[in-house]
Amino acid sequence: MKQVVVTIDGPAGAGKSSVAKNLARRLGYRLLDTGAIYRAVALVAKRAGTPWTDGAACARIARELDISYDFVGDKNHVFVAGEDVSVAIRTPEVSQGASQVSAHAEVRAALLELQRRLGAGGGVVVEGRDTGTVVFPSAEAKFFLTANDEERARRRVAELAASGNQVDFELTLREIRERDERDSTRDVAPMVPAADAVIVDSSTQTLDQVTESLAALVEERSQAR
Ligand code: DC
Repeated sequence: MKQVVVTIDGPAGAGKSSVAKNLARRLGYRLLDTGAIYRAVALVAKRAGTPWTDGAACARIARELDISYDFVGDKNHVFVAGEDVSVAIRTPEVSQGASQVSAHAEVRAALLELQRRLGAGGGVVVEGRDTGTVVFPSAEAKFFLTANDEERARRRVAELAASGNQVDFELTLREIRERDERDSTRDVAPMVPAADAVIVDSSTQTLDQVTESLAALVEERSQAR
């Protein structure tokens, strides 16, 4: 079977990370979490005292970003310059920062080649907002995963609680709506489904059901090409 590129785009909290991780494991594929790259840029900028509104300075950080991934158990660890930043990049503050830095065209341009390099050769599940539209437009299997916003807020609260961050549901819901609005209305690479993406609503499906339906389509596409 051909090792294809699978893209999973969609809004925050739709279950992309869990589905992408499960699907990658099920297929024996690598996992490329592109949101983690934008989060890493936001974290490095914050530590350097660089405002997230400064596109040119954030793009310089993006060009010099030394990022790597490592799967340990079922956790995808993210390293910047050798430091494990997996927890530091998931705080609500860095989430907002990632959304802000990702709106700059020069930041997106700086990260495009990096993402393509990390996904080169296929056999990869790529997760993000524009991976099927911009980063890998010729990916063999594209999905747009979504869920209603209250369900997405509930999942985000549970996910943050699991990593030791207690957050308020109403506040999380508001932040999710704000972030969706910014991610889908920005001028560059807005979050929209690719024309050839399969749209999957995960609101009422379990993780296993979603993973299985995606895996079935990927397997069909890997044989057909
Ligand atoms: O998937 P995530 O929550 O880790 O993404 C963090 C932010 O990064 C999100 O608000 C939008 C941005 N992002 C993007 O613009 N393009 C991507 N391919 C992935 C993430």
